Amino acid sequence: MLNFTYFNPTKAHFGKGQIAALKHEIPLNSRVLVTYGGGSIKKNGVYDQVMAALAGVTVIEFCGIEPNPHFETLVKAVELVKEHNIDLILAVGGGSVIDGSKFIAAAACYQGDYWDIITTGGNCVTKALPLGCVVTLPATGSEMNRNSVVTRAATQDKLSFGSDYVRPQFAILDPQTTYTLPPRQIANGVVDSFVHIMEQYMTYPVNMKVSDRFAESLLLNLFEDGPTALETPEDYDVRANLMWTATMALNGTLKNGVPTDWATHAIGHELTGLYGLDHAQTLAIVMPALWRYKKEQKKGKLLQYAERVLGITQGCDDEKVEQAIVQTERFFETMGNPTRLSAYDLNASDIEAVADKLKQHGQVALGENKDITPDDAVAILTLAL
Ligand code: NZQ
Ligand code: ZN
Repeated sequence: MLNFTYFNPTKAHFGKGQIAALKHEIPLNSRVLVTYGGGSIKKNGVYDQVMAALAGVTVIEFCGIEPNPHFETLVKAVELVKEHNIDLILAVGGGSVIDGSKFIAAAACYQGDYWDIITTGGNCVTKALPLGCVVTLPATGSEMNRNSVVTRAATQDKLSFGSDYVRPQFAILDPQTTYTLPPRQIANGVVDSFVHIMEQYMTYPVNMKVSDRFAESLLLNLFEDGPTALETPEDYDVRANLMWTATMALNGTLKNGVPTDWATHAIGHELTGLYGLDHAQTLAIVMPALWRYKKEQKKGKLLQYAERVLGITQGCDDEKVEQAIVQTERFFETMGNPTRLSAYDLNASDIEAVADKLKQHGQVALGENKDITPDDAVAILTLAL
C-alpha cells in the first residue's frame, strides 16, 4: 500500500428535497452568483427550487456555461463577479457548470492573466471565492473534488487544473433532479464514473484492500443500475445509487494508497478538444484499447477485475483478460456509448493530431508507469479504429 494524505472538506446534502438546504448554507446578507448552463434547470423545476430556497438573498445570474466550459465564456462571468461584488458562487448543473464555476471562483481572486490558472495546473491559485453546488448530472465528481477542466475554444485546448481553494464548500445532490437527463447523458454519467474508478484501480496490485474492494463495489453498482436507469428513468433508488457512486468515484477516496493511471482521460480530452465528442464518449473508445495495449503491465489487476467483479473463472489468464475487456466494451455499448472511433466518422488520418496536441500540452509520459508517449497514444487509438 502506498502512503497517502486524505482531505475532503465538502459537506454533502443528499436526497429528496435537499435543495431547500441552501437556506442553511447561504447567509441572507450574501451576494450570490448563480451559474448554470443552457437552460435544462428551467425546464425541470430545479431553477425554481433554487430560487425559492434563496429567497431574501441577493442573486445575480450567469447562464450559458456550455458543455466542456469555454474559457471565453467564463471570463465574462469573472467580470460580473467583480461588478456586483459577489461573495459566493452557486453552480447549478452538471460537471461543466461546476468546473466552470471553479475557474470563475479562482479567476475572480487572481491578479494576472486568467489563463495562467490553466497553464500552471492551478499552482498559481492562492485564493478563490467560496463555491457551492447543486448537482443535476452525476458523472464527474466535480461537486466533491478539487479539479476543473476548461476548454479554450479558439485554440481547441482542453486542459485541467486543480486546487484545494476551489473545492466546493457544500454539494446538494437530489437524485430526482436527474430524472430529466436524456439517455445520452445518463450513459455519459455511467461511463465517466466507471472510467474514473478504473483510472484508480486498473494499474498494478499494491495490496490496498480498502480502495480495491471499494472500487469493485462501485463498479458492481454501475453494472447493475446503469442499464436500469435507461429502462426506468424515474426509479429513485437506481438514480440515488448512481448519483452517490459517481461522487464517490472521484472525490479522492479511491486513490488513497494506490497508483493511478489517467492516460485514458488525457487522450480523451484531446479527442474532445479536436473533434467535439462528449467526454465519456471518448473514454469508452480509449480505455478498452489502452487495456489491450498495456495488458501485460495491467495483467494482475485485469485478472482481479475479471474474477471479482465479472465472475470470470474459466480459461487461461490471457483468455480471462480478453473476456474482461470484451465484457467492458459490451457494457459501454449497452449503455449507448460506442467503443470505436469509426462510430464518430473518425479514421486513421485523425489520430496524428491527437499526438501533436498531447506533445503541445506536455502530456508525453502518461499512465501509472509514465511510459505512454504520444506515439503510444497513436498505437492505442489505432487499436480503436
Ligand atoms: O447546459 P444544460 O442546459 O444544463 O444541459 C446539460 C448539458 O447539455 C445537460 N443536463 C445536465 N443536467 C441535466 C441536463 N439535462 C437534463 N436534465 C438534467 N438534470 O447535460 C449536458 C451535459 O452537461 P455537462 O455538465 O457538460 O456534463 P458532465 O457532467 O458530464 O460534465 C462534463 C465536463 O466535466 C469534465 C469533462 O471533461 C467535461 O468538460 N470533467 C470534470 C471532472 C472533474 N471536475 O473532476 C472530471 C471528469 O473526468 C471530466 O473531465
Ligand atoms: Zn472523466
